[in-house]
Amino acid sequence: MSKKSLNILFVASEVVPFAKTGGLADVAGALPKAIKELGHNIIVVMPRYYKIDKAKLTKLPEPLGVPMGIMGEFWAAVYTTTLPNTQTPIYFIDYEEYFGRSGLYEDEYGNSYEDNDNRFIFFSKASLQLCKMLNFTPDIVHSNDWHTAIIPLLIKTKFVHDFAFTKSVLTIHNLQHQGHFFKGAIDVMEVGWEYFNSHDLESHDGVNLLKGGISRADAVTTVSKKYAHEIQTQEFGFGLEHHIQAHAHKIYGILNGVDYDEWNPSVDNLIAKKYDRDDMSGKLVCKRDIQQHFGLEKKDNVPLIGFVGRFAEQKGIGMIAAIINSLLDMDVQVVMLGTGEKWAEGFFSEVSYHRSNFALHIGYSDALAHKIEAGSDMFLMPSLFEPCGLNQIYSLAYGTLPIVRATGGLDDTIHNYDEFHQTGDGFKFYESSNDALYHTLKWAIDVYYNNKDSFIDMQKRAMNEHFGWDDAARSYIDIYKKILGN
Ligand code: ADP
Ligand code: GLC
Repeated sequence: MSKKSLNILFVASEVVPFAKTGGLADVAGALPKAIKELGHNIIVVMPRYYKIDKAKLTKLPEPLGVPMGIMGEFWAAVYTTTLPNTQTPIYFIDYEEYFGRSGLYEDEYGNSYEDNDNRFIFFSKASLQLCKMLNFTPDIVHSNDWHTAIIPLLIKTKFVHDFAFTKSVLTIHNLQHQGHFFKGAIDVMEVGWEYFNSHDLESHDGVNLLKGGISRADAVTTVSKKYAHEIQTQEFGFGLEHHIQAHAHKIYGILNGVDYDEWNPSVDNLIAKKYDRDDMSGKLVCKRDIQQHFGLEKKDNVPLIGFVGRFAEQKGIGMIAAIINSLLDMDVQVVMLGTGEKWAEGFFSEVSYHRSNFALHIGYSDALAHKIEAGSDMFLMPSLFEPCGLNQIYSLAYGTLPIVRATGGLDDTIHNYDEFHQTGDGFKFYESSNDALYHTLKWAIDVYYNNKDSFIDMQKRAMNEHFGWDDAARSYIDIYKKILGN
């Protein structure tokens, strides 16, 4: 291949600012923009969920026919716009019966939708049909997580005529969710029953969409280097470790970046006062704002520890629950923003009734997430596993020192404080134990109170770190070119 500029189809089930449940949306909103800036033609495709306002989008004149095997052909509408402040086109597959619901993947009680297999097989196929409708011939189709993992197999089977020269990249953002369904889904995918075998889709007599994608993608990426290794072990492989080991030659780890237009205290309109590393006085204003917002005592010199994230086991909420009362016995303030497992929502609500130095917001709030990043002194992220993790990187940008477990992207992005050499930008622990978490928190609080100069130096080092999407985009382009034989 001699041409320099590539045609790329980027498919994701959530994209900032249109729909988001986690970091996948941040990545899907930022990476295509960075790839476009490198001079490539990239289009993004996502479902048109109920809460995405059609009035702000442009409808394409033609309806889109999507073959659904034994279910027949379904007709969708397609809407389009560009990613904010860019020329990057994004297309929305509009099919009321599948996506006109309040949740992306589950109902308001946390139950996964029963037809998630059909919903995302439909979406995956629709994204390929859309390319045909637009006369867009991708050199690369880049899919993300289980929702669109089947695309690499689709372009080698059902869609092979139109995508004969297209190569595929599958990014695993989280191996825990694999898309495991009843095997009858094969007849909807139309990939052929020969792929129902233990090297492709088959798993416990059902289909595993992510497994099939890993088999057939030309390259598989994960969102940090360490996670690329971890998923080949029993501890982090969620049962796919042997399968992933068998494909290790095509697995790459590329660290996510930060969209510094969004997450940057010197331009952030959502925080009480902007600041930067040369003048951090605004950070104190942000701290007071958080204390005011959450009804915490207004004290400048008590360490404020923030948490923002899904209340899921992955995020170490079990460990936080185990140590929270001992933590609150110290002279600290803690704020948590999150939603998820009901036991955790109930447990932390209970704690917030009894402890005056603890505050909680159950729900999803982008504005509060920014305020907590800016107003906290430290950011708590004790994940059991973390493919990349974005909040700890955002924390660095806000001079909010991360307290993390050394796993996946947390280990790749945070340098542990070294008192002797005066290096580091956060506090790390290794064992996933309550004790290790507790003692690391105690250590961080001790540095805050008794070694304030070192603490401030660490904040400056943290704010000097840079995790640009341009570097990540270049690494993806290298992989695209490699699999295209360039
Ligand atoms: P994950 O994708 O596993 O949830 P990441 O750290 O990669 O973890 O990304 C989480 C993203 O979702 C971050 O942008 C974070 O700010 C955001 N987020 C998570 N929970 C909430 C919440 N309750 N309110 C606002 N933003 C949230
Ligand atoms: C996943 C992971 C998280 C990662 C995000 C974006 O949801 O849990 O670690 O940062 O995807 O890649």
